[in-house]
Order: sequence, then structure tokens, then C-alpha cells
Amino acid sequence: MAKKVGWIGLGHMGLPMATNLKNAGFDIKVWNRTIEKAKNSGLPYVETLEELIKDREIIITMLFDSNSVLDIYSKIVQFDIKDKLFIDMTTIHPETAKKVAEMLITKGSDFLEAPVIGSVVPAQKGLLTIVVSGDESTYKNNLDIFSVLGKEIFYMGDYGMASTMKLINNTVLGSFLNVLCEAYSFVKKAGIDEKLALKVLENGAGKSMVLDAKKEKLLNEDYSTHFSVNLIHKDLSYALDVANKLGVASQFTSTSREFYNSAKANNLSDLDFSAVFEVFKKLSNIS
Ligand SMILES: NC(=O)c1ccc[n+]([C@@H]2O[C@H](COP(=O)([O-])OP(=O)(O)OC[C@H]3O[C@@H](n4cnc5c(N)ncnc54)[C@H](OP(=O)(O)O)[C@@H]3O)[C@@H](O)[C@H]2O)c1
Repeated sequence: MAKKVGWIGLGHMGLPMATNLKNAGFDIKVWNRTIEKAKNSGLPYVETLEELIKDREIIITMLFDSNSVLDIYSKIVQFDIKDKLFIDMTTIHPETAKKVAEMLITKGSDFLEAPVIGSVVPAQKGLLTIVVSGDESTYKNNLDIFSVLGKEIFYMGDYGMASTMKLINNTVLGSFLNVLCEAYSFVKKAGIDEKLALKVLENGAGKSMVLDAKKEKLLNEDYSTHFSVNLIHKDLSYALDVANKLGVASQFTSTSREFYNSAKANNLSDLDFSAVFEVFKKLSNIS
């Protein structure tokens, strides 16, 4: 019999991921805080959080940040959740993951922390990379879910490790995009054909998933949101906090976050994080 899965959070990532589970044959129901998104999702939905929790054996959350995750789980623990499994796929602070695990386990339920790497297009295609922490046998028993959502799935061990790994990945992501924006400013100022320059970079030191994903956005200055400035800023802030506590030198990450700070200050918060190129344009006086 198909697993009864509940899904909470139908944002840029949650909607395509939940849709993939439905298409793969899971018995899925969704709920979203802004209920219109659930109504318009094309997926079976319920009107209330309580209804979803009562009716489902596995509940997956894909929310915004640590605060939204704490907000939802503090409501969830008010219900009878014994023997249910919760999987949070939001990018959160590792301390939040540990806290949520404790809240749920105390109530007799199980928890997997499973943040994802990859943006909207890999989410649509079921090609995400997923890092998972929690009980290993629970992880193995739910590989059927993860393998619909992602292509590469890594078990990371204790709670907190998966979120830490995800944040480490995003320190590379945030800094690398900034480096690409600086290089692209150089290209523009030097008067090199932009498409040609991106092709050269693709076959040189710029070759990366980041350039693959963002080259069209840079070329067309199309900042329609896949992964927002707000989200990368949040991830770098969590990463810096963890790095500071561990005594990791993190000059690149702090500098990188400054560029996203400037993007926020320039009203670019909700746009795709490639909009940080507007900050580089200002710095180099590119029109
Ligand atoms: N976008 C990407 O490319 C990407 C890639 C990898 C990982 N991630 C991570 O995945 C997570 C989701 O990203 P996204 O781009 O899908 O974000 P998003 O589009 O902003 O969606 C956020 C979702 O969280 C819900 N939410 C926020 N606060 C809430 C609260 N207090 N209570 C209940 N629901 C709440 C929103 O509900 P409403 O509709 O009511 O606002 C919405 O459904 C983030 O942690 C992000 O860092 C994103």
C-alpha cells in the first residue's frame, strides 16, 4: 500500500517536490500556511494543519528558515503524534534540527533532518542532492521517498550534521556566485562578447553547476526567483554562526554575505540571488 505522506510548505521548492511524490504514486496530501497555494497546487489538500497531522503517517516540511520550522513544530507537538515520522527538508541552523528532533522524540515520534542541494530545476526533475541525519534504519526505510526527490542521497549520521553539511555547501555557492559576478563585470568592462566569455569560462575555471544554473540569468539579467537573496543571506548567516562557534576562519563567507547584505539594502531581497550582480554593476559603474 502506498505510504500516506503529508506535505507542509508549497514554496518554490516544496511544490515541485510534493508533485513528484504524487506522480511517483505516493498517497499525498498537502497543507500550506497561505491556503490558496494548496488550493492551486493541483494536489490533494487539507484546510488545516491538524487535519493533515491526524490523517498522515509521514509528514514532510519544506519551510523558509529555522524560525518557521520552530513555529510549525511547536504547533505540531500539541497534537497526538506518537509513532509518526517527520522529515524536515528546510535549510535550518543545525541547533534547530537538534531541538526539533528532541521535541518530536519526546512525543514518541521519529525525525529525519534532510536538507537539499540544488534549486528549482533539479527539484522539478527529481535530481536534488539530499543529505540526511537521524536514525539510520529510519533513513533506509524511507529511501523510496528520497530517491523520488533526489539523485544523490548521503547519510550524514547524527542530528545537526546534515544541516551543517548543507550550510558548508552554501558557503561555496554564495561565494562562487559572487566570484562569477566579479568576473562577469570584468567581461563587460573589457568589452568582450558576453556569450563568448561565458562559453570560455564554462570550459575553463568557471566550469560549475553554479555557472550552468545562472549563466542565462546573468546574460539576460533575468532575476526571476529560484533561490532568493533572502535565502542565501539566511544560509550564510547560519553558516557564519556555526563557523564562529567551531573557530573556523571564514573570511570568504563573511565577505560574501556583505554582497547579499547590499543586495537586500537595494530592495532585491525577494529576487533570485543572481540579482547580486546589480551590486557588482554599481561597484564597477556598469550601466
Ligand atoms: N529555492 C531554492 O533554490 C532552494 C534550494 C535548496 C534549498 N532551499 C531551501 O529550501 C527551503 C524552502 O525554499 P523555497 O525557495 O521553497 O522558499 P519559499 O518559496 O520562500 O517557500 C517557503 C515556504 O515556507 C512557508 N512558511 C514560511 N514561514 C512559515 C511559517 N511560519 N509557518 C508556516 N509556513 C511557513 C511558506 O508559506 P506561505 O506560502 O504561507 O508564505 C512557503 O510555503 C528554504 O529553507 C531554502 O533555504 C531552497
